[in-house]
Amino acid sequence: MPNNYFSHDKDGREYSFAAAETTADYTNLVDLKISTEDLQCELQLDAIGPWEPLNFQIDPTKWRNDQKELVDLWRPFQPKEGILNDRDSILLYGMLGDTPVSPTGLAQYKKKLGYKPKESDLCYPTDAAKLLTCCDEIFDYFGPLGRSFLVRLNAGGFYPKHRDHILLNRDTFRLIAFLGDAQDSMEWEVSGQIRQFLPNTVYYVDTRKLHRLSSWHPNSTMVVVNVRKTWLNVLKVLSRLKHS
Ligand SMILES: [Fe+2]
Repeated sequence: MPNNYFSHDKDGREYSFAAAETTADYTNLVDLKISTEDLQCELQLDAIGPWEPLNFQIDPTKWRNDQKELVDLWRPFQPKEGILNDRDSILLYGMLGDTPVSPTGLAQYKKKLGYKPKESDLCYPTDAAKLLTCCDEIFDYFGPLGRSFLVRLNAGGFYPKHRDHILLNRDTFRLIAFLGDAQDSMEWEVSGQIRQFLPNTVYYVDTRKLHRLSSWHPNSTMVVVNVRKTWLNVLKVLSRLKHS
């Protein structure tokens, strides 16, 4: 029987669909608690800019070898019903008991749990975390990490325009590491501007701002890292800016 690509992935596995998107209602958050540390971190992160490289060197030879160990662990990233989107992920840090092939998207967690967990609670390394040796230094420097995953956009893979964690009390901020030689195989837009990125480089990205991604080649591969938003971790980012 031919595969139905709206319900099954390329390997014939049934999709773990994400929860449907709903319009966010913030009007019930009038009593939201925003700490002094939240404000301090957010203002300092805002001062960095929306898209800034850090000075870690990711070894491409290590990544080439790591890929061989990870090859069977890719699973569709956050599929939505009725939409074809060729993107895969491998879970690196998630819930206790998760494995590298557990669904990685927050909306997939919501479908499974009935609520969206906090990024910082998804802090348990899967077996894939230690297989990604090319990122050891980054993970050690910023750990313990929240939800983190490898994601690979293939030809036609995309993230539509969206924002992540817009509230000032977000518990984590995002780093994105670009692996391999994906430099011109995909496009990142943040705050209405196309951003240039260097391969084998990790960036602080202000994903509170409107952003989208599109890929037109296979294997546009990134690591998405959620770092706990503490003053110490913000200072660690400042200490490793490529252009300080
Ligand atoms: Fe995002």
